Amino acid sequence: MKYEIAYLSLSGNAEKLAHGIADSLPHNQTLVTNLAHKRITSKADIYIIGFGMNKGTVPIDIINTLDELQGKRIMFFVTCGLDPSEKHQKDVEKKLFPFMPDDCDYCGLFMCRGKIPDNVVKAIYDKLIERGDNQSAMKILEEAALSENHPDSTDIENACAFISKYI
Ligand SMILES: Cc1cc2nc3c(=O)[nH]c(=O)nc-3n(C[C@H](O)[C@H](O)[C@H](O)COP(=O)(O)O)c2cc1C
Repeated sequence: MKYEIAYLSLSGNAEKLAHGIADSLPHNQTLVTNLAHKRITSKADIYIIGFGMNKGTVPIDIINTLDELQGKRIMFFVTCGLDPSEKHQKDVEKKLFPFMPDDCDYCGLFMCRGKIPDNVVKAIYDKLIERGDNQSAMKILEEAALSENHPDSTDIENACAFISKYI
């Protein structure tokens, strides 16, 4: 097996990308692992790791998975509710770098928007109702509206194009 796509996805956004990426790779050489249920096999050559941002952090199961990737080629796909700007991307990479094995072949990180769950958007909206001048709640609601229909088919295509540069 050449490729292992491992992901952690709380509301299904990174999972959508994981399956879209898997569909673009040779089926008989690709394994998809949901880290909520299983650990990685460590048997593939190329690791394509995905997750959704959570309160500014990288999920701990992703950090723990990196421990098992000595000598592997690694790339990431990340969904986020806030603007996936270059700065946001670099901030996420900075959180990952200290945990990356020294001898891995790190290729890069793809980032796109992912819908923020309705209950979270509602909780932020309620904060805005409590205090109409809550600038940060207003900003997050604007971002949530922009992320509402993501990841979409273009995000999946872009993720596949990103991955294809390194495999
Ligand atoms: C509790 C919670 C915290 C979140 N924190 C962030 C964050 O810090 N930055 C961000 O860009 N998006 C944040 N989001 C939005 C998620 O990153 C976004 O919905 C992502 O696509 C979720 O991917 P998943 O469904 O694969 O887990 C948060 C969402 C939730 C529910």
